[in-house]
Amino acid sequence: MAEQKSTNITWHHGKITKEDRIRLMRQKGVTIWLTGLSGAGKSTIAVELEHALVENGHQAYILDGDNIRHGLNKNLGFSPEDRAENIRRIGEVAKLFTDANIITITAFISPYRKDREEARALQKEGEFIEVYVKCPVEVCEERDVKGLYKKARAGEIKEFTGISAPYEEPLDPEITIDTSRLSVEESTRTIIGYLEEKGYVKF
Ligand code: ADX
Repeated sequence: MAEQKSTNITWHHGKITKEDRIRLMRQKGVTIWLTGLSGAGKSTIAVELEHALVENGHQAYILDGDNIRHGLNKNLGFSPEDRAENIRRIGEVAKLFTDANIITITAFISPYRKDREEARALQKEGEFIEVYVKCPVEVCEERDVKGLYKKARAGEIKEFTGISAPYEEPLDPEITIDTSRLSVEESTRTIIGYLEEKGYVKF
């Protein structure tokens, strides 16, 4: 947990409630937290999911690890401490987006269970859906879309998840998607099916 350094601060409430937003936006904002190895398919699924939702009149937005590390989190590396801070900040940003009633899709490896649990704990019951984008490391390495596994094997990248840094599998995710068996379309449909069934969106 980050230290509370600022003092003499007051919380300000707006006039618009979450219920107002749900009614006006015809959706219930939620964080869809995709976790899994590099190359498992998190970003690909996030893009298809966002597209499908927005095409159907919903408001969705992706927070993606590679992208966020170009800006907000550009000062963080891949040590366990930096990854924890990466996930802490994104957990807070996802909470803000969800409060704004957006369908918020995060695509971060988020390899540590504790960090993911802290991100979940920031949000209300039912506003955080953990999706384990599951894929054997051998398959991710075989795909090696960005050529990073090759570099990690050659020792050019240190602390690479799945090779020289750990990935702690989710113990009780709301959804598990095995991308070594399912297509991108099937994976996306699984998540949309869940969102419809639980009443977050209407298609
Ligand atoms: S996380 O572990 O802190 O959640 P995040 O999702 O933000 O990671 O960033 C992962 C992306 O950074 C990978 O998809 C990959 O492109 C790149 N990357 C660079 N170095 C590493 C590394 N050592 N381990 C994992 N991913 C890395």
